[in-house]
Order: sequence, then C-alpha cells, then structure tokens
Amino acid sequence: MTTVPVIVVGSVNVDLVAVGGRMPRPGETVTMGRFAEVQGGKGGNQASAAAALGATVHFVGAVGSDHWGVAAREDLSGRGIELRGLATVEGATGVAIILVDDGGENSIAIVPGANGAVTPSLVEDALTAIDAPDAVVVACLEIPLESVLAAARVASAKGWRFVLNPAPAPGAPLPAELLAAASVVTPNETEAEALGGVDALLAAGAGAVVVTRGGDGTEIHATGSPATRVAPSRASVVDTTGAGDAFTAALAVGLANGRELADAVRWASAAGAIATEGFGARGSLATAAQVDARAAARP
Ligand code: RIB
Repeated sequence: MTTVPVIVVGSVNVDLVAVGGRMPRPGETVTMGRFAEVQGGKGGNQASAAAALGATVHFVGAVGSDHWGVAAREDLSGRGIELRGLATVEGATGVAIILVDDGGENSIAIVPGANGAVTPSLVEDALTAIDAPDAVVVACLEIPLESVLAAARVASAKGWRFVLNPAPAPGAPLPAELLAAASVVTPNETEAEALGGVDALLAAGAGAVVVTRGGDGTEIHATGSPATRVAPSRASVVDTTGAGDAFTAALAVGLANGRELADAVRWASAAGAIATEGFGARGSLATAAQVDARAAARP
C-alpha cells in the first residue's frame, strides 16, 4: 500500500440510470429494461476507485443538504476516504441522468447542483490543510474551472503531482496555466479532440497526455518521445460508466506507488477494463491484486 496519498478534487452525483435497450434519437421515447439509483460523479468515482486499490485517499468537493448528499457522504466514508474537504451546502446534490444501452455504452446528462459550489477557496483551504510531503492530486471538470485551477496552483506550490482528467469535454480550450501544471492529462479520444488535439496540450506544457480509446487501447504522448500504444486489457463489458474514472484513479495510484508512467498506464488499463464488468460507475471497482492479475493476463 502506498504512503503517498491520492487527493481527489471533484464532483459527487447521484446517478439515475436506465439500463437495457437502445438509445433514443432526438424527439423519440424508448422503453428500457430497468432503473437504478447509484452513487456517481467523476470525483467520487475516482476517489472510490483509488480507495479500492488500497491508496490513502482524501476527497475535496461538495454535496447538497438533501438526502442524496447524506447518502453520498455515507458511501464515501464507508470506503475509508478522508472527507474533511467535503462540504455540505444548502440545496441539491449533483444529479446525473444516465442511459446504458444493450452494448454497455452510456449517454450522460448532468445537473451540477452542489458541485457548482466547490469554490477556489474551499479547494485551497482543504488542500493547504493536508500535511503531506508528496501527493498525487486528481481533478476533473465537473466542478468550476477556477476551482480546478486553484487545485493545480496548490499542487504546484507544494511540489505535488497533478493529474487532470478533462472530463466532461470543455466547450473551450483550457487555460495554459492549468495544462502546464499537469504532470499527466487523461482525455478520452472525444475530449482530446475537443481540447484541440494532443499536440496542443503538449505545447501548452502538459507533462504527458494519455488518451484512452476504450477497446482500442491507450496512447501515451510526451514531448520529445515517440508516442506509444498500450493494448487494451480483456473485458466482459456490462457497463462502461465510470471506466475512465477508474482508469484515471489507478494511474494516480500507480504514480503514487512509484510506477513509471508507461507502467502506471498499463496497470490503469487493467483497472479500467475491470470497471466495465459490473453495473454502475462503482459496481466493479478492482483491488490492487485483481488489477495485477488482469495486467499479467494482457495479450
Ligand atoms: O464518469 C461517470 C460519471 O459521470 C457518472 O458517475 C456520472 O455521475 C457522471 O459524473
């Protein structure tokens, strides 16, 4: 188990999920097989995945004052995640409406709720209070951009590594300061395109760009090195929701544990594959031993 903590700064949602069937076209109503309410939010999922892998995890974010906020806090606490940086704010917890089709692919719409109240000062105060000589900070884009930037600034000031998961894809280029602070950026292929492509991210100063391409594997790009491709791990896909979160979390845990980037990416690919094999964003979070076994079985 690592002694270098993983600090996740991000979102918490309740996921309202309809499963089984096909995606509706615009204006169309479809009937799906079943409904479930499960814990979600990219940040909460990343923290949960890192905790399942045995990391010491701190979470910084916000839930609402409704029953969903209580349930979300209980869930994260039950996973052994340190929650001093989790605020409860008046109003609604974040909500995600998710459709999962027969192939396990998903479509997601989110309403940020309390995630919009994750302010730069909340982030700065929470990160400043963590007394760790080394850490890996993970942030996603389901909280305000200025708060992600605040996390990057504190991480830089403390000499901590910063992993940016640019999800969901922003509608505009990210600030160069944010990218320059990132040791690693982990877009999927859609997000990489929305951000202007890998070369633009590297030119802005990102340490490395790791592009996940689902069943087509993962690419590692870094300035001055040839791009490398990591083949996908085998998976019996049930639901891809949260697989990217599990990947980013495992990458951060791998780096915290002292793995080199390429090795951490291989390990994270196995974690991401396992995460697709259960229903819900946290339905199949792997232990480190399970990831080791899946990575060893790579074709
Ligand atoms: O990445 C998956 C997550 O995206 C879901 O849990 C949902 O809450 C949205 O945030």
